[in-house]
Amino acid sequence: MTADAQAAFASYKDEALAAIASASSEDALELVRVEFLGKKRGRLKELQSLLGQADPEQRPLLGKSFNQVQAEVRGALEERQGVLARPVAAVAAIDVTLPGSQPVIGRRHPITKTMDDFKDIVGRMGFRVATGPELEDDHHNFVALNIPPEHPARDPLENFYLATALAGSGGDDAAVLMRSQTSTVQIRVMEQTAPPVRIVSLGRCYRPDTIDATHHCMFHQMEGLMVDTDVTMADLKTVLKHFATAFLGDDVSVRFRPSFFPFTEPSVEVDVLWRDRWLELGGAGMVDPNVLRHVGFDPEEVTGFAFGLGIERFCMMRYQVTDIRRFFENDVRFLSQF
Ligand code: PHE
Repeated sequence: MTADAQAAFASYKDEALAAIASASSEDALELVRVEFLGKKRGRLKELQSLLGQADPEQRPLLGKSFNQVQAEVRGALEERQGVLARPVAAVAAIDVTLPGSQPVIGRRHPITKTMDDFKDIVGRMGFRVATGPELEDDHHNFVALNIPPEHPARDPLENFYLATALAGSGGDDAAVLMRSQTSTVQIRVMEQTAPPVRIVSLGRCYRPDTIDATHHCMFHQMEGLMVDTDVTMADLKTVLKHFATAFLGDDVSVRFRPSFFPFTEPSVEVDVLWRDRWLELGGAGMVDPNVLRHVGFDPEEVTGFAFGLGIERFCMMRYQVTDIRRFFENDVRFLSQF
């Protein structure tokens, strides 16, 4: 009887350890636990009844090995549980703030992706990326850009002025606003650097436009500025044509229409012919001599061109998005398509 019981313990142990080792998920392991360690039914019950049938004087010894076997199986089960649970623990341990070569979670926003592509393209033409603040002063958003005090672009209905700044006693000079254009960065760069200058600046702009399918109160622009001893309008058109062709992937035509901006002379609206349609991309022109003078450049020595392109518009064309609002709603069903 003792030998039978010992043999039954041994085969119980072997079978349990084999089942534990081959359980490939936590659910499968739970079934193994119920079968081999479950209190109500299961294999433990059989062994207990064997124990009950043994001679009273052999019982302590058998009881000891019964407990040993049980403890061994329980230990193996716990160990396996730890192994199967590990992938979950590894995910929880990912530090998303660390730079990594394999992004595990999330993806770039289509606007960010478009801006990264823009930087790549113009980077190949020698444009370095400059940045400027989104909260701007009157000087950089207007004065240095040759926008006079009475100009309609300064209207409170056209800009997000900060109430505290308006209430201040300093008049217009003290005005602070969310920048309405990235042209502010032209000034910031030229104030800091001597010519030649060749920069782009990409970022958010703010205007209190009524929000609809093609307008938003927050949008992105890419500003470009090139100043050197003999920069011409032909350089401007060449850069824009190369840029649009590289981004849109087809050989596109670029068209200039006469326009007006206080900080460029002459000024143009830029259109691109893409898939048989003319699409408006933004404004551009030759940097106004007044602007150059304002930052201490000599307009007799250097000339320059500047452009400001709407980033959403490019992004919408390329991905055939028909409503600008989709970009800023944070709907993962939309964003995960890119
Ligand atoms: N800043 C102008 C706008 O927002 C665009 C522009 C930039 C025009 C540079 C000319 C030169 O409309």
